[in-house]
Amino acid sequence: MSLRKIVTVTGGNGGIGYETVKALLTSQKPYHILMGSRSLEKAKFAIETLKEECPQATNTVEAIQIDLTSDESIEAAFKQVDDTHGHIDVLVNNAGATFDIDYTAGKVSLRECFNKAYDVNVTGTNVLSYTFMPLLLKSSDPRLLFVAGLSAINQAGKQYFPTPPQPAGWPKKIGFETIGYRCSKTALNMLMLDWNHKLKADGVKVWAVGPGMLATNLGGVPELAKAMGAQPASLGGEILKAVIEGERDHQVGKIVVRSGIMDW
Ligand SMILES: NC(=O)c1ccc[n+]([C@@H]2O[C@H](COP(=O)([O-])OP(=O)(O)OC[C@H]3O[C@@H](n4cnc5c(N)ncnc54)[C@H](OP(=O)(O)O)[C@@H]3O)[C@@H](O)[C@H]2O)c1
Repeated sequence: MSLRKIVTVTGGNGGIGYETVKALLTSQKPYHILMGSRSLEKAKFAIETLKEECPQATNTVEAIQIDLTSDESIEAAFKQVDDTHGHIDVLVNNAGATFDIDYTAGKVSLRECFNKAYDVNVTGTNVLSYTFMPLLLKSSDPRLLFVAGLSAINQAGKQYFPTPPQPAGWPKKIGFETIGYRCSKTALNMLMLDWNHKLKADGVKVWAVGPGMLATNLGGVPELAKAMGAQPASLGGEILKAVIEGERDHQVGKIVVRSGIMDW
């Protein structure tokens, strides 16, 4: 077995996923990274960009087509990894999407807004984790990460809502909607807890990792994210790398954030 740990990062072609691939590529520890991307064209471009940005990197990266909404894509990805590597050491369930902004813009229905978010963020993430599990269980130090976000019920209990209080009457005028995404990400926490429970005897370390509000293409509104004070996406890469490299091994089964663990 190669000394390089094999890490799969879904949605590795952009945003926090890209920064995670980059952080691992330039790590002192040896990795071979499987950059999941629903578009191989986008992955190719991202890998070219990484080569320009990190010319000294000795770690390696390879593209793998993964569309979380397609069982065929997930099965094909499993077969490719099984045939080529036979195992993985880390699965970073990073890929995610929101459709609330499309809903507000009238591009999708309310039902589509919720179902599409669940399909990517919960259902597809679970199908991928399930399908890749035999590969992960072959590792001597298996790690399973879920990228959390806006997902702690307790924050809502403390009146944390991204929308201002609404006057009485109907319809409500919601300029910036998040609830489809937020519900799906809250469900993702349950997925993390459930996998953590099921995999105890297998020695798999499982976490949800909250990267904080970062400037990415999430929702297709990068300017809005920046205007709302989003921080550099590289911070997401740093915390995910820290978890992969053992800095949060005492916080297994929690939502880890930069300042510690999230109260949920
Ligand atoms: N940005 C934040 O403030 C923030 C905060 C907390 C948590 N998060 C979470 O961080 C993760 C990464 O998001 P990001 O902020 O980096 O956003 P992003 O820039 O939009 O990146 C999302 C990634 O997921 C991929 N993706 C979308 N739908 C997919 C599908 N059906 N199958 C496979 N891949 C798919 C995207 O691919 P394409 O390039 O093809 O669209 C892209 O690679 C998400 O889980 C998000 O919920 C983000």
